[in-house]
Amino acid sequence: MRIVQIGVGGFGKNHARILSQLGVLSAVCDADPARAADFGARYGVKHYSSLESLLAGESFDGAFVCTPTSTHFGIAKTLLESSVNVFVEKPMTYLSREGEELLEISRRKKVVLTSGYIERFNPAVSLVKEYVRTKKYGELIMLEFHRENRMPLHIKDVGIIYDTSVHDIDTAMWLFDDAPEVVFARSGKLRHDHEDFATIMLGFRDNRIAIISSNWITPIKVRRFNAVCTDAIISSDFITQEVKIETDGGAEIPRKEVEEPLLLEIKNFISASEGREEIRVRPEHAVNTTRIAEAALLSSQKGTPIYLEL
Ligand SMILES: NC(=O)c1ccc[n+]([C@@H]2O[C@H](COP(=O)([O-])OP(=O)(O)OC[C@H]3O[C@@H](n4cnc5c(N)ncnc54)[C@H](O)[C@@H]3O)[C@@H](O)[C@H]2O)c1
Repeated sequence: MRIVQIGVGGFGKNHARILSQLGVLSAVCDADPARAADFGARYGVKHYSSLESLLAGESFDGAFVCTPTSTHFGIAKTLLESSVNVFVEKPMTYLSREGEELLEISRRKKVVLTSGYIERFNPAVSLVKEYVRTKKYGELIMLEFHRENRMPLHIKDVGIIYDTSVHDIDTAMWLFDDAPEVVFARSGKLRHDHEDFATIMLGFRDNRIAIISSNWITPIKVRRFNAVCTDAIISSDFITQEVKIETDGGAEIPRKEVEEPLLLEIKNFISASEGREEIRVRPEHAVNTTRIAEAALLSSQKGTPIYLEL
């Protein structure tokens, strides 16, 4: 496969590194010409500073889009219309109707479309998902997420719900294997142009809930979740990938090797593009995550719950 990396900024540089290691990186493109040239030289591939010049100069089968959220739709649409398999960083689009349009084009062109909900590839989440699937600790009743960090100064186009809470919205749907019926949120802003703290409640069938607490105020990086099951409470850290299980019989920390979720995610995209594997983050799910982010923002503006039929 020949894959191009569009956007080699703070996060896209990680994609470029892994794509190069896997031997599939064929070019890089960044609106900042110096950055594009730097990464092109680093990985010995051609570099471009616009999508138009990339499309004119390269022939490729897949593209990673790791540019600011507000640019995702336009770039992804052009790539899909060119019959390229597309991985767009999260959130897939700013508006859910833009996501629906991308989904429709990907179906028409019969290409893979996915989005960077990387926690589905976090070994800690995979272990908890397996416990939930096999009901090892009974039924999953409640999820609680904490994702806190200093404010990322370069994120200008969206607030914390679209940038950060979306990871936990997606993980909650992945672990419950369901979409919420109702969203209630409170959010506010202290230092950012958009909201920089938010607490979101997602109500699922049978009174199951996910509480998502995110802020850009805490001066340290916190990324944790708890899964309350009928027979145990499972707590985990997305960063260390540790999973702790507490039952009536005591506490257990199952051993699990640390793996790089981004590598697993990129390998899944390549396999899916080659027709060897299902894409783990289906585009329908990514559109739903954007719908829920929209509902969370609306709920916190109106002060009321928003009911959804997803
Ligand atoms: N999955 C994750 O865990 C994760 C983590 C961080 C960021 N992200 C996502 O990655 C995306 C980028 O975030 P970032 O932190 O790397 O931002 P960034 O600002 O550091 O990098 C964005 C890069 O895109 C380039 N760019 C902007 N417009 C462009 C265009 N039209 N064409 C080509 N290049 C363009 C910029 O020059 C810059 O180098 C965002 O969607 C963000 O939500 C995902």
